[in-house]
Amino acid sequence: MENSIQVFAPATVANVVCGFDVLGFAVNEPGDEVIMRVTDKPSITISKITGDNGRLPLDPAKNTVSVSVQHYLQSINRTDIGLDIELHKKMPIGSGLGSSSASTVAGLFAAKTLLGDETDAAKLLPFAMKGEEMACGHGHADNVAPALMGGFVLIRSYEPLDVIRLPHPKGLYCAIVFPDVDVPTREARQIIRDKIYMKDAVTQWGNIAGLVSGLFMNDIGLIGRSMKDILVEPVRSMLIPDFYKMREIAMEMGAVSFGISGSGPSVFAFTKSEETAKQIAQKLQKNLAAAGIGSNTYVSDINNQGPKVIG
Ligand code: HSE
Repeated sequence: MENSIQVFAPATVANVVCGFDVLGFAVNEPGDEVIMRVTDKPSITISKITGDNGRLPLDPAKNTVSVSVQHYLQSINRTDIGLDIELHKKMPIGSGLGSSSASTVAGLFAAKTLLGDETDAAKLLPFAMKGEEMACGHGHADNVAPALMGGFVLIRSYEPLDVIRLPHPKGLYCAIVFPDVDVPTREARQIIRDKIYMKDAVTQWGNIAGLVSGLFMNDIGLIGRSMKDILVEPVRSMLIPDFYKMREIAMEMGAVSFGISGSGPSVFAFTKSEETAKQIAQKLQKNLAAAGIGSNTYVSDINNQGPKVIG
Protein backbone atom coordinates (compact mmCIF):
# COMPACT_ATOMS: atom_id res chain seq x y z
CA MET A 1 0.00 0.00 0.00
CA GLU A 2 1.26 3.49 -0.86
CA ASN A 3 1.88 5.69 2.18
CA SER A 4 0.70 8.99 0.82
CA ILE A 5 -1.22 10.45 -2.08
CA GLN A 6 -2.21 13.87 -3.44
CA VAL A 7 -5.58 14.26 -5.15
CA PHE A 8 -7.31 17.11 -7.02
CA ALA A 9 -11.11 17.32 -7.28
CA PRO A 10 -12.93 19.84 -9.46
CA ALA A 11 -15.39 22.64 -8.82
CA THR A 12 -18.92 22.08 -10.09
CA VAL A 13 -21.85 24.09 -11.36
CA ALA A 14 -25.01 22.72 -9.72
CA ASN A 15 -28.64 23.24 -10.82
CA VAL A 16 -27.55 24.28 -14.36
CA VAL A 17 -30.28 26.95 -14.12
CA CYS A 18 -33.50 24.91 -14.43
CA GLY A 19 -32.52 21.68 -12.64
CA PHE A 20 -32.59 22.66 -8.96
CA ASP A 21 -30.93 19.87 -6.95
CA VAL A 22 -30.99 17.44 -9.92
CA LEU A 23 -28.42 18.65 -12.47
CA GLY A 24 -24.73 19.56 -12.27
CA PHE A 25 -21.48 19.47 -14.21
CA ALA A 26 -17.78 19.59 -13.38
CA VAL A 27 -15.25 22.18 -14.64
CA ASN A 28 -11.46 22.00 -14.96
CA GLU A 29 -10.74 24.87 -12.66
CA PRO A 30 -10.86 25.85 -9.86
CA GLY A 31 -10.71 22.81 -7.53
CA ASP A 32 -9.28 21.59 -4.22
CA GLU A 33 -6.36 19.37 -3.26
CA VAL A 34 -5.96 16.84 -0.48
CA ILE A 35 -2.72 15.20 0.62
CA MET A 36 -3.45 12.06 2.63
CA ARG A 37 -0.93 9.99 4.58
CA VAL A 38 -1.26 6.64 6.31
CA THR A 39 -0.41 6.92 10.03
CA ASP A 40 0.14 4.25 12.67
CA LYS A 41 -2.79 5.28 14.92
CA PRO A 42 -6.29 4.09 13.98
CA SER A 43 -7.86 7.53 13.70
CA ILE A 44 -8.41 10.36 11.23
CA THR A 45 -6.52 13.57 11.84
CA ILE A 46 -6.32 16.89 9.98
CA SER A 47 -2.83 18.32 10.28
CA LYS A 48 -3.15 21.31 7.99
CA ILE A 49 -5.66 23.43 6.07
CA THR A 50 -4.45 26.18 3.75
CA GLY A 51 -6.32 28.74 1.65
CA ASP A 52 -9.37 28.97 3.93
CA ASN A 53 -8.44 32.05 5.98
CA GLY A 54 -8.99 30.01 9.13
CA ARG A 55 -12.67 29.37 8.30
CA LEU A 56 -12.63 25.57 8.31
CA PRO A 57 -12.34 23.37 11.41
CA LEU A 58 -9.28 21.21 12.04
CA ASP A 59 -11.39 19.09 14.40
CA PRO A 60 -11.99 15.83 12.48
CA ALA A 61 -15.46 15.50 14.02
CA LYS A 62 -16.48 18.85 12.49
CA ASN A 63 -14.76 18.87 9.10
CA THR A 64 -16.75 17.60 6.10
CA VAL A 65 -13.72 15.84 4.58
CA SER A 66 -12.83 13.77 7.65
CA VAL A 67 -16.47 13.04 8.50
CA SER A 68 -17.14 11.70 4.97
CA VAL A 69 -13.93 9.63 5.03
CA GLN A 70 -14.91 8.24 8.45
CA HIS A 71 -18.32 7.12 7.07
CA TYR A 72 -16.55 5.48 4.12
CA LEU A 73 -14.04 3.63 6.36
CA GLN A 74 -16.89 2.35 8.55
CA SER A 75 -18.75 1.07 5.49
CA ILE A 76 -15.78 -1.04 4.40
CA ASN A 77 -14.83 -2.10 7.96
CA ARG A 78 -11.46 -0.36 7.85
CA THR A 79 -11.62 1.80 10.97
CA ASP A 80 -8.38 0.02 11.96
CA ILE A 81 -6.47 2.35 9.62
CA GLY A 82 -4.98 5.76 10.50
CA LEU A 83 -5.18 8.61 7.99
CA ASP A 84 -3.89 12.16 8.18
CA ILE A 85 -5.39 14.83 5.94
CA GLU A 86 -3.90 18.04 4.59
CA LEU A 87 -6.54 20.14 2.82
CA HIS A 88 -5.39 22.80 0.38
CA LYS A 89 -8.29 25.05 -0.58
CA LYS A 90 -7.61 26.30 -4.06
CA MET A 91 -11.08 27.72 -4.52
CA PRO A 92 -13.27 30.19 -2.65
CA ILE A 93 -15.63 29.05 0.11
CA GLY A 94 -19.31 30.02 -0.16
CA SER A 95 -18.92 30.71 -3.87
CA GLY A 96 -21.64 28.47 -5.34
CA LEU A 97 -18.97 26.40 -7.05
CA GLY A 98 -19.21 23.32 -4.86
CA SER A 99 -16.29 24.20 -2.61
CA SER A 100 -17.11 21.74 0.17
CA SER A 101 -17.89 19.05 -2.43
CA ALA A 102 -14.49 19.44 -4.11
CA SER A 103 -12.73 19.00 -0.74
CA THR A 104 -14.87 16.05 0.30
CA VAL A 105 -14.52 14.27 -3.03
CA ALA A 106 -10.74 14.81 -3.04
CA GLY A 107 -10.58 13.26 0.47
CA LEU A 108 -12.78 10.29 -0.36
CA PHE A 109 -10.97 9.57 -3.61
CA ALA A 110 -7.61 9.80 -1.82
CA ALA A 111 -8.76 7.30 0.84
CA LYS A 112 -10.21 4.88 -1.72
CA THR A 113 -7.04 5.00 -3.82
CA LEU A 114 -4.70 4.60 -0.81
CA LEU A 115 -6.68 1.57 0.33
CA GLY A 116 -6.57 0.04 -3.14
CA ASP A 117 -10.39 -0.09 -3.22
CA GLU A 118 -11.25 -0.82 -6.86
CA THR A 119 -14.99 -0.11 -6.59
CA ASP A 120 -16.37 2.58 -8.85
CA ALA A 121 -15.86 6.16 -7.58
CA ALA A 122 -19.62 6.74 -7.96
CA LYS A 123 -20.12 4.35 -5.01
CA LEU A 124 -18.58 7.05 -2.79
CA LEU A 125 -21.56 9.31 -3.44
CA PRO A 126 -23.57 8.56 -0.26
CA PHE A 127 -20.49 9.37 1.86
CA ALA A 128 -19.86 12.60 -0.03
CA MET A 129 -23.52 13.56 0.53
CA LYS A 130 -22.96 13.24 4.30
CA GLY A 131 -20.38 16.01 3.90
CA GLU A 132 -22.90 18.22 2.09
CA GLU A 133 -25.45 17.62 4.81
CA MET A 134 -22.93 18.80 7.36
CA ALA A 135 -21.81 21.81 5.33
CA CYS A 136 -25.24 23.29 4.59
CA GLY A 137 -27.90 21.25 6.35
CA HIS A 138 -29.06 19.33 3.27
CA GLY A 139 -27.47 16.34 1.54
CA HIS A 140 -28.03 17.33 -2.09
CA ALA A 141 -25.92 15.52 -4.69
CA ASP A 142 -25.80 17.96 -7.61
CA ASN A 143 -22.28 19.15 -6.66
CA VAL A 144 -20.77 15.96 -5.25
CA ALA A 145 -22.00 13.68 -8.06
CA PRO A 146 -20.32 15.59 -10.93
CA ALA A 147 -17.22 16.23 -8.78
CA LEU A 148 -16.94 12.45 -8.26
CA MET A 149 -17.98 11.21 -11.68
CA GLY A 150 -16.94 14.10 -13.91
CA GLY A 151 -19.07 15.39 -16.78
CA PHE A 152 -22.76 16.28 -16.69
CA VAL A 153 -24.86 14.40 -14.13
CA LEU A 154 -28.59 14.00 -13.46
CA ILE A 155 -29.86 12.94 -10.05
CA ARG A 156 -33.02 11.20 -11.24
CA SER A 157 -33.99 10.21 -7.71
CA TYR A 158 -32.70 10.74 -4.17
CA GLU A 159 -34.64 7.88 -2.55
CA PRO A 160 -33.43 5.53 -3.78
CA LEU A 161 -30.35 7.28 -5.13
CA ASP A 162 -30.32 7.03 -8.94
CA VAL A 163 -27.63 9.05 -10.68
CA ILE A 164 -27.19 9.20 -14.44
CA ARG A 165 -24.23 10.54 -16.39
CA LEU A 166 -25.43 12.57 -19.37
CA PRO A 167 -23.60 13.24 -22.64
CA HIS A 168 -22.86 16.81 -23.70
CA PRO A 169 -21.87 18.51 -26.94
CA LYS A 170 -18.16 18.90 -27.60
CA GLY A 171 -16.92 22.46 -27.63
CA LEU A 172 -19.27 23.79 -24.95
CA TYR A 173 -17.32 26.29 -22.81
CA CYS A 174 -18.18 27.78 -19.48
CA ALA A 175 -17.32 31.27 -18.24
CA ILE A 176 -17.63 31.61 -14.46
CA VAL A 177 -17.58 34.85 -12.50
CA PHE A 178 -17.47 34.79 -8.72
CA PRO A 179 -18.40 38.22 -7.29
CA ASP A 180 -16.80 38.90 -3.96
CA VAL A 181 -19.96 38.72 -1.83
CA ASP A 182 -20.88 36.00 0.64
CA VAL A 183 -23.94 33.81 -0.04
CA PRO A 184 -23.93 30.77 2.28
CA THR A 185 -25.80 27.82 0.72
CA ARG A 186 -27.69 27.19 3.96
CA GLU A 187 -29.20 30.70 3.79
CA ALA A 188 -29.72 30.63 0.02
CA ARG A 189 -31.83 27.49 0.51
CA GLN A 190 -33.92 29.05 3.28
CA ILE A 191 -35.23 31.87 1.07
CA ILE A 192 -36.72 29.56 -1.57
CA ARG A 193 -40.48 28.94 -1.58
CA ASP A 194 -41.44 25.42 -0.54
CA LYS A 195 -44.71 25.35 -2.50
CA ILE A 196 -45.10 26.11 -6.21
CA TYR A 197 -47.99 26.49 -8.65
CA MET A 198 -48.75 23.67 -11.08
CA LYS A 199 -48.40 26.02 -14.07
CA ASP A 200 -44.89 26.96 -12.90
CA ALA A 201 -44.00 23.29 -12.42
CA VAL A 202 -45.14 22.59 -15.99
CA THR A 203 -42.88 25.36 -17.32
CA GLN A 204 -39.95 24.15 -15.24
CA TRP A 205 -40.13 20.46 -16.12
CA GLY A 206 -40.56 21.32 -19.79
CA ASN A 207 -37.28 23.23 -19.57
CA ILE A 208 -35.45 20.46 -17.70
CA ALA A 209 -36.57 17.89 -20.27
CA GLY A 210 -35.55 20.33 -23.04
CA LEU A 211 -32.08 20.78 -21.56
CA VAL A 212 -31.52 17.04 -21.16
CA SER A 213 -32.80 16.44 -24.72
CA GLY A 214 -30.46 19.14 -26.01
CA LEU A 215 -27.51 17.44 -24.31
CA PHE A 216 -28.37 14.12 -25.96
CA MET A 217 -29.12 15.69 -29.35
CA ASN A 218 -26.03 17.95 -29.39
CA ASP A 219 -28.50 20.78 -29.95
CA ILE A 220 -26.93 23.90 -28.45
CA GLY A 221 -29.91 26.07 -29.47
CA LEU A 222 -32.26 23.80 -27.53
CA ILE A 223 -29.88 23.78 -24.54
CA GLY A 224 -29.84 27.59 -24.55
CA ARG A 225 -33.59 28.14 -24.79
CA SER A 226 -34.27 25.49 -22.11
CA MET A 227 -31.96 27.01 -19.51
CA LYS A 228 -34.62 29.15 -17.83
CA ASP A 229 -35.57 29.00 -14.17
CA ILE A 230 -38.80 30.53 -12.95
CA LEU A 231 -38.71 28.96 -9.48
CA VAL A 232 -35.41 29.68 -7.76
CA GLU A 233 -33.54 32.30 -9.80
CA PRO A 234 -36.09 35.13 -9.27
CA VAL A 235 -35.46 34.87 -5.51
CA ARG A 236 -31.75 34.12 -5.39
CA SER A 237 -30.83 36.68 -8.04
CA MET A 238 -31.59 39.36 -5.45
CA LEU A 239 -28.48 38.24 -3.52
CA ILE A 240 -26.22 38.72 -6.55
CA PRO A 241 -25.02 42.19 -7.49
CA ASP A 242 -26.05 43.27 -11.01
CA PHE A 243 -27.38 39.80 -11.90
CA TYR A 244 -29.75 40.91 -14.70
CA LYS A 245 -27.26 43.41 -16.09
CA MET A 246 -24.63 40.64 -16.23
CA ARG A 247 -27.09 38.37 -18.05
CA GLU A 248 -27.83 41.09 -20.60
CA ILE A 249 -24.11 41.64 -21.23
CA ALA A 250 -23.35 37.92 -21.55
CA MET A 251 -26.24 37.23 -23.92
CA GLU A 252 -25.39 40.27 -26.08
CA MET A 253 -21.83 38.96 -26.34
CA GLY A 254 -23.03 35.63 -27.73
CA ALA A 255 -23.56 33.41 -24.66
CA VAL A 256 -25.72 30.33 -25.18
CA SER A 257 -27.20 30.75 -21.70
CA PHE A 258 -26.54 32.49 -18.39
CA GLY A 259 -27.51 31.78 -14.80
CA ILE A 260 -26.58 31.27 -11.16
CA SER A 261 -24.02 28.58 -10.36
CA GLY A 262 -25.38 26.44 -7.52
CA SER A 263 -26.71 28.69 -4.78
CA GLY A 264 -24.59 31.65 -5.94
CA PRO A 265 -23.12 34.22 -5.85
CA SER A 266 -21.12 32.80 -8.79
CA VAL A 267 -22.75 33.11 -12.19
CA PHE A 268 -21.89 31.21 -15.33
CA ALA A 269 -22.45 31.40 -19.08
CA PHE A 270 -22.23 28.62 -21.62
CA THR A 271 -20.53 29.63 -24.86
CA LYS A 272 -19.60 27.98 -28.14
CA SER A 273 -15.94 29.00 -27.99
CA GLU A 274 -13.21 29.50 -25.43
CA GLU A 275 -12.54 32.96 -26.81
CA THR A 276 -16.14 34.11 -26.25
CA ALA A 277 -16.06 32.65 -22.73
CA LYS A 278 -12.87 34.62 -21.94
CA GLN A 279 -14.31 37.84 -23.36
CA ILE A 280 -17.54 37.46 -21.37
CA ALA A 281 -15.67 36.68 -18.14
CA GLN A 282 -13.46 39.78 -18.60
CA LYS A 283 -16.39 42.04 -19.44
CA LEU A 284 -18.45 40.89 -16.45
CA GLN A 285 -15.46 41.35 -14.17
CA LYS A 286 -15.03 44.89 -15.48
CA ASN A 287 -18.72 45.61 -14.96
CA LEU A 288 -18.54 44.43 -11.34
CA ALA A 289 -15.35 46.41 -10.74
CA ALA A 290 -17.14 49.56 -11.93
CA ALA A 291 -19.69 48.92 -9.16
CA GLY A 292 -16.86 48.51 -6.65
CA ILE A 293 -17.13 44.71 -6.42
CA GLY A 294 -14.09 42.49 -6.85
CA SER A 295 -14.42 39.12 -8.57
CA ASN A 296 -12.59 36.00 -9.71
CA THR A 297 -13.13 34.49 -13.14
CA TYR A 298 -12.59 30.99 -14.52
CA VAL A 299 -12.93 29.66 -18.06
CA SER A 300 -13.15 25.97 -18.74
CA ASP A 301 -14.76 23.29 -20.84
CA ILE A 302 -16.65 20.49 -19.07
CA ASN A 303 -14.37 18.27 -16.97
CA ASN A 304 -15.12 14.65 -17.81
CA GLN A 305 -12.63 13.10 -15.40
CA GLY A 306 -13.65 14.12 -11.90
CA PRO A 307 -10.99 13.58 -9.21
CA LYS A 308 -7.43 12.77 -10.22
CA VAL A 309 -4.23 11.68 -8.50
CA ILE A 310 -1.61 14.43 -8.87
CA GLY A 311 1.14 13.16 -6.60
N1 HSE B 1 -28.69 22.55 -5.50
C1 HSE B 1 -28.01 23.22 -4.44
C2 HSE B 1 -28.71 24.54 -4.18
C3 HSE B 1 -26.59 23.49 -4.86
O1 HSE B 1 -29.06 25.22 -5.15
O2 HSE B 1 -28.93 24.90 -3.04
C4 HSE B 1 -25.77 24.22 -3.85
O3 HSE B 1 -24.54 24.60 -4.45
